[in-house]
Amino acid sequence: MQNILVTGGAGYIGSHICIQLRDAGYLPVVFDNLSNGHRDAVAQDIPFIEADIRDSNALDRAFSDFRPSAVIHMAALIEAGVSMLEPAQFYEVNTAGSLNLFEAMRRHNCHRIVLSSTAAVYGNTHLDLLNESLPVLPENPYGRSKAMIETMLADYSATYGFNTIVLRYFNAAGADPDGRTGERHDPETHLIPLALQTAAGVRKEMKIFGCDYETPDGTCVRDYIHVDDLAEAHVKALQNITPQEESAFEIINIGTGRGYSVKEIIKLCQNITGQNFPVSIEARRPGDAANLVADPTKAKMLLNWEPKFCSAHDIIRHAWNFYKKTMP
Ligand SMILES: NC(=O)c1ccc[n+]([C@@H]2O[C@H](COP(=O)([O-])OP(=O)(O)OC[C@H]3O[C@@H](n4cnc5c(N)ncnc54)[C@H](O)[C@@H]3O)[C@@H](O)[C@H]2O)c1
Repeated sequence: MQNILVTGGAGYIGSHICIQLRDAGYLPVVFDNLSNGHRDAVAQDIPFIEADIRDSNALDRAFSDFRPSAVIHMAALIEAGVSMLEPAQFYEVNTAGSLNLFEAMRRHNCHRIVLSSTAAVYGNTHLDLLNESLPVLPENPYGRSKAMIETMLADYSATYGFNTIVLRYFNAAGADPDGRTGERHDPETHLIPLALQTAAGVRKEMKIFGCDYETPDGTCVRDYIHVDDLAEAHVKALQNITPQEESAFEIINIGTGRGYSVKEIIKLCQNITGQNFPVSIEARRPGDAANLVADPTKAKMLLNWEPKFCSAHDIIRHAWNFYKKTMP
């Protein structure tokens, strides 16, 4: 059985990836400092290392003890809005922390990596669909910190023989269809969980930031990818990654190719929960792109991956089921 080091494995997406890795016959080894993750999101029989990717000694111990054949690197700070106020934190944790991880990989001769990157690297393009050959022009320090990690890995692949697959996720959403894990960010800033919290009465109203974008109803359009489909893309990436001896570098979008506006998502949340909660319109937030929808052609071609859940209805239904099960 191959061991896979999963940084950030106690987080929202990481906990879903661990379930699918185990189902596919891998042993995930979670490396997470629990700054935003949850210990109970990871099954007790999965090895768990509570440590920080900026800690070289802890990384050395993890590589020596578990000899992973590959790394799935998700540990990061993720809030684009916070990155506008505190960019240094994002460059320190995301960019410098990743460099520290890649150096540990070199020391331990582990050259295979799947990186969590983001559609935020594309910035504001005004294009209907975004493909991987577009220039990288992120609008905020979060996106720039991720773009820097991608660039480092391109150089590590060309120079040190790394085999890299960069997965640029669009908006991860939903929950494990069997309800084993789901989204529990604190504070929460993602649209669907915020709308569900409002439906549950935990929040008074739902805020829409900007209704004067150049989109059909004036609100931002995003491509919502079911977290279960996203997790499956990682397993396929591992199965397709080049063997240890050769170097490679690929960037692949993970999205559905279908966009939903903020207003459409809120309406669906109201329908599914049966709660007609209040909604207010606020000013635009700095750093938000109008339209981020994936061209998912390359994922189908290179990974033979396609999303199973293309409708936001399923995504919201699974998220609502998990929320009802775990709500305070
Ligand atoms: N959620 C999305 O829609 C989305 C979209 C695009 C990309 N991503 C990327 O996917 C990855 C996972 O996102 P998520 O939504 O699961 O976020 P999350 O916050 O739930 O998970 C991140 C995990 O990393 C851990 N972590 C943070 N800093 C760390 C450090 N210094 N050392 C060790 N562990 C650390 C946290 O404790 C947490 O468990 C991130 O890299 C994020 O940038 C997420």
